[in-house]
Amino acid sequence: MSRAFDVVAIRKEFPILSRQVNGKPLVYLDNAASAQKPDAVIDAIANQCRTSYANVHRGIHTLSNETTEAYEAGREAARDFLNAQSVANIIFTKGATEGINLVASSLAGTIHAGEEIVLSVMEHHSNIVPWHFLRERHGAVLRWVGLNDDGSLDMDAMRAAIGPKTRMVAISHMSNVLGTVNDVAEVGRLAHAAGARVLVDGCQAAVHLSVDVQALGCDWYVFSGHKLYGPTGIGILCGTDEALAEARPYQGGGEMIETVSMDRITYNEAPHKFEAGTPPILEAIGLGAAIRWFQQFEPSDVHAHEQKLYERARESLRGINGLTVHGEAPGKGSVLAFSLQGTHPHDLAQILDRYGVAIRAGHHCAQPLMTHLGVSATARASFGIYNTEAEVDIFIDALEKARGMLV
Ligand SMILES: Cc1ncc(COP(=O)(O)O)c(C=O)c1O
Repeated sequence: MSRAFDVVAIRKEFPILSRQVNGKPLVYLDNAASAQKPDAVIDAIANQCRTSYANVHRGIHTLSNETTEAYEAGREAARDFLNAQSVANIIFTKGATEGINLVASSLAGTIHAGEEIVLSVMEHHSNIVPWHFLRERHGAVLRWVGLNDDGSLDMDAMRAAIGPKTRMVAISHMSNVLGTVNDVAEVGRLAHAAGARVLVDGCQAAVHLSVDVQALGCDWYVFSGHKLYGPTGIGILCGTDEALAEARPYQGGGEMIETVSMDRITYNEAPHKFEAGTPPILEAIGLGAAIRWFQQFEPSDVHAHEQKLYERARESLRGINGLTVHGEAPGKGSVLAFSLQGTHPHDLAQILDRYGVAIRAGHHCAQPLMTHLGVSATARASFGIYNTEAEVDIFIDALEKARGMLV
């Protein structure tokens, strides 16, 4: 049975939310960059350190076995969260960025000059730069798919871009700027029909949508723990058996091998084959705790709560003269990027900080998207599970004050 959604009770589990910033209660609206941590996560890491900590997989002693059990429970939590077939499909990485780099670098040995990687204009740099490496170093060609005016993906352009030369389609499930939710299942069907693989960047979607990698049919799915109320330094790369079998190991070292001699090596099975060295043990345990905490709630309750906050903010922004919201695609998630005529986003963010309101300003690691929008930067408010309608009102009030000062 799911836990009833009660934002007041939820907030009490996040110690940081009771602090003040510049003499005002913290209003944290930078969740798309990184989310705050509940007691369940803080305690899981601290308790592991206090009561049972050792390196994993290698020991026969009790502490090593206990730590391995807690660490592998994190993997099972991630498997369950994504509905992956097996824990063998779940690779722990440092974050989404490392997961995408792993996949891109594993293509380095087999991609040929002129073969194509299809990307959308709304991608985060971490889903662009690793593919640029393949362009620079191996002659791969990047094919860009544009957007419709409302910020939705141009699916006709996607259909036209995917062809016999396509090796990979790399696409975000939900944009960290526009909030657009992409039909990645359809993109996957198009990629597979052309004999290509599809990688889905789920950094934002994992937090705001229910994800079922088997239903989506993607070859690779990545996300970062720190946006999902978990620790930094941990992410998940989920690959199908076929994709994992095709991929070469990314880094070499302990754990990823079966045998090592002076003239040859043999590899361990997935997922260990892709996890060289001592892994992020405490981070994986913390991510497991974050997922189990998050799974207490009905995804539709979390979604409805966040959408209510988004709609309230969006409605209030309509009343502000000179304000443009970037991204109005139907079904978009609770990310609100905006520009206010006559102001720089950094100035807005700085003034809002004086009122305790944390928003982000900048290019959001999405410079091709900024070029598409014709701006160099935007302001962005992004909502999470613990935000409230009262906080939305404080944000809007602070924004109006900032406008009064700057325009
Ligand atoms: C859509 C998207 N992809 C990738 C990333 C990169 O995540 P990380 O820096 O945790 O690896 C982010 C982070 O902002 C993101 O929002």
